[in-house]
Amino acid sequence: MEILRIKGGHPISGEVQVSGSKNAALPQFAAALLSDQETILENVPDLSDIRFMGEILTHLGADVSRDGPNTWKIRPANIQPDAPYELVRKMRASICLLGPLVARLKRAKVPMPGGCVIGHRPIDLHLHALKEMGASISLNQGFVEVDGSDLHSVDIFIAGRHGSSVTGTANAIMAAVLTPGTTTLDGAACEPEIVDLCTMLTQMGARISGAGSHLLKIDGVDKLNGCTHRVIPDRIEAATYVMASAITRGKIKIKGIVPDHLGAFTKVMRESGVSMEKNLSLEMDVQTNKNGLLPFEIITLPYPGFPTDLQAQACALACTVPGLSILTERVYPSRFMHIPELLRMGAEVSLEGANAIVRGGKPLNGAPVMASDLRASAALILAGLVAEGETWVHRIYHLDRGYELLDQKLQNLGAEVERMPEEALPPAFRSPAA
Ligand code: EPZ
Repeated sequence: MEILRIKGGHPISGEVQVSGSKNAALPQFAAALLSDQETILENVPDLSDIRFMGEILTHLGADVSRDGPNTWKIRPANIQPDAPYELVRKMRASICLLGPLVARLKRAKVPMPGGCVIGHRPIDLHLHALKEMGASISLNQGFVEVDGSDLHSVDIFIAGRHGSSVTGTANAIMAAVLTPGTTTLDGAACEPEIVDLCTMLTQMGARISGAGSHLLKIDGVDKLNGCTHRVIPDRIEAATYVMASAITRGKIKIKGIVPDHLGAFTKVMRESGVSMEKNLSLEMDVQTNKNGLLPFEIITLPYPGFPTDLQAQACALACTVPGLSILTERVYPSRFMHIPELLRMGAEVSLEGANAIVRGGKPLNGAPVMASDLRASAALILAGLVAEGETWVHRIYHLDRGYELLDQKLQNLGAEVERMPEEALPPAFRSPAA
């Protein structure tokens, strides 16, 4: 396995290009199955999760090829409805296959997604939508089997007790686009990734109104065509670089960012003292004001609220800001696996239920730390950028699932970040035998 060695203390500077959005691209790979014609997806980030999705579509019978690292061609002329356990268990986003398989083939067999370190991640809302549309669903030997031979249009309330569901909404949209009649989805997710999915489906010939609102109306059509679609930039990656600049008190230009996709994140950063100035379209200049940063309070919520995918990184940033910051998780209440690792670096954080209370301002010390999930990995790297001494981040395969070339992009911004084989670790830092 590989590790990252980070030597802290360098304020980052320069320009960084944001890659395409992982969370937009993954459901769009599934959406390509809705047509028997070729779909080309451009600006796709080169990530292990994306490659997994390509393997799954190949297993389903699609002809999948790449035209360079960021362009994929998917020709799903002849597909079958059974998704492979071995691949699906590695990536829960593959649950997005349910909607398109049921819409195109009238049946689907997809393994129940496995556990996840960020907390309980049920799929009841996904199944609720399909049931409301007339599908019959059974769970056999860990597989969800769906019979959608009698799918019909219907009005559905699709949100749950934690609010809207991003991939739940994606699945329902993809089930409805080929279902005769008008299906309405109330309580739908408004995330930019859902808007981008609707844009792609519209390019394929789907008839969808209300994208970006909580009420979607979908008029089913008989057939969809292939399309060429460019994936939107990754707002979580972009915001992670904003916080990398803030935590090192640096000054960077972020290219390919869509400021309107950042929601409450921008308000929180600006109130803390991070200046985020849009200049040309899709560009933003980021620096911290000379008086330093003020502590902040966030509550993670569905879009346009503060994204849960930025909570761990914000927690690392808060550790460097004098005063008390409070971070409350309303989406995944136990998404705090990064905190024990930050404590190893000398952070002062206490956890009260779904609230992380950070007493920031004490210098962080470099240490060997363990990544547990994609965004926790990013949080530990941000902390390493400012910690005194060296930080060694283990299990960075989590990082490679969702950040394209993060270590190289940070190096280009002047950070001392080096990807190494685990054997290079000082013996005292080697992770215990797995
Ligand atoms: C998407 O996951 C993202 N993944 C997640 O990003 C992100 O954290 C999450 O949305 C929230 O923004 C992809 O898009 C591939 P949800 P998703 O359904 O769709 C509850 C990352 O780091 N819920 O919007 O699985 C759920 O427990 C990943 O890139 C139900 O109760 O999340 C949570 O509390 C991590 N029943 C809330 O809704 C359901 O059937 C939001 O979950 C589904 C969800």
